[in-house]
Amino acid sequence: MSHLWLPFTQMRHFDEQARTFVRACGTVLEDARGRQVYDAVSSIWTTIHGHCHPRIVEAIARQAATLDHATLLGATNPVAEELAARLCAMAGMDRVFFASDGASAVEAAIKMALQYWQNAGQPHRTRFLRLSSAYHGDTIGAMSLSDIALFKSRFGSVTFETQGYDSAEPLGEDVAAVIVEPLIQAAAGMRLVPKEAYARLKGVEALIVCDEIATGFGRTGTMFAFEQIGVSPDIVCVGKGLTGGTMALSATLVGQSLYDVFLGAPDEFVHFLHGHSYAGNPIACAAALASLALFEEEGTLERAQGIARRSRAHLESLRAHPLVHDVRQAGTMLGIELRESLGRAVANALYDAGHFTRPIGDVIQFVPPLSSSDEEVDTFFESCLDTLSTTKPCHPELVACHPELVACHPELVEGRRTKK
Ligand SMILES: Cc1ncc(COP(=O)(O)O)c(C=O)c1O
Repeated sequence: MSHLWLPFTQMRHFDEQARTFVRACGTVLEDARGRQVYDAVSSIWTTIHGHCHPRIVEAIARQAATLDHATLLGATNPVAEELAARLCAMAGMDRVFFASDGASAVEAAIKMALQYWQNAGQPHRTRFLRLSSAYHGDTIGAMSLSDIALFKSRFGSVTFETQGYDSAEPLGEDVAAVIVEPLIQAAAGMRLVPKEAYARLKGVEALIVCDEIATGFGRTGTMFAFEQIGVSPDIVCVGKGLTGGTMALSATLVGQSLYDVFLGAPDEFVHFLHGHSYAGNPIACAAALASLALFEEEGTLERAQGIARRSRAHLESLRAHPLVHDVRQAGTMLGIELRESLGRAVANALYDAGHFTRPIGDVIQFVPPLSSSDEEVDTFFESCLDTLSTTKPCHPELVACHPELVACHPELVEGRRTKK
């Protein structure tokens, strides 16, 4: 019996055997049954150069034997220093505050914005604006900045209110920060954000936070997606792909003028009042440095652009399929929105065909490792077409009248596959 409790997973119907991953290499995960599957979702947008890349594995091992961990509370270490310098040079920022998961980088951004305005003599700036359908993580602050009811509504008693800036009147003088996902909202089902949504940010006095946790590190064809939206952020949050998808590390990047407002005498208490035990863990920082080096050594951005081009052609042929409602893409972040509540059944069939992806509702995601070959990209889309052509729409009344039945008994939906 398993003692694990998995995130965002209904444990009652979880087929342990089918999804127990025991090893990985390159773009492939191997499950406990010995089945090898293509990691078509990059282990939820984290894996960049493929799993267990020897350069990153070696960097982790070397660092683990040199300095495994040392706190960043009032101390520093050369790997965290080097990574901070590297990130600043890449993102055009000046200072890096490290944390662990993406949500903790967002929490840091929230508190930084609040304390920045206090230190700057404008403590009335306490309101946060976000895009509609936003998602910034599952901790209380990050959840407050999100706008997906399913993830948030039950926890309303502890979240604070935020407004969608895309529909708001001119930004008020009480706004501390506006947070945006650049180009694409992945958790909302690969929803593309119209570029005009960013135009309103020009010249605003409130801080602009770009959440690059899903989009950073080449996913959209440039190192950071904000490079494509004409926005100059005051704060940038990164996570997920920062270590190439190997270790938990996130960071909140800021410019010098924001940082300067936190400088003063120790007993003034203007320094940033926030921190985590494993911030800037040297092993994670070494993994990140190795991952960033691979971008140059392996031409990762060019590869990402090639994957994006190849995927686009496939996506267009899927668009016309009668069971496909919509297709969306920003670089190597793709969503295929299906009709008829087919998301889970199609993802399960894809697993049987050798591709691991996780549907967001009825959106099949394709977010491949940036080391994927042409053949892997082609085979994924061929399997999608095959799966759809062997799928018969479920009786619409079953889906319409008993969605909970379909949700709890995916086999009812899978039973639609007639030709297999
Ligand atoms: C845009 C965005 N921000 C923040 C997060 C939260 O990151 P984490 O799951 O590492 O806490 C996610 C996770 O999917 C995300 O997509």
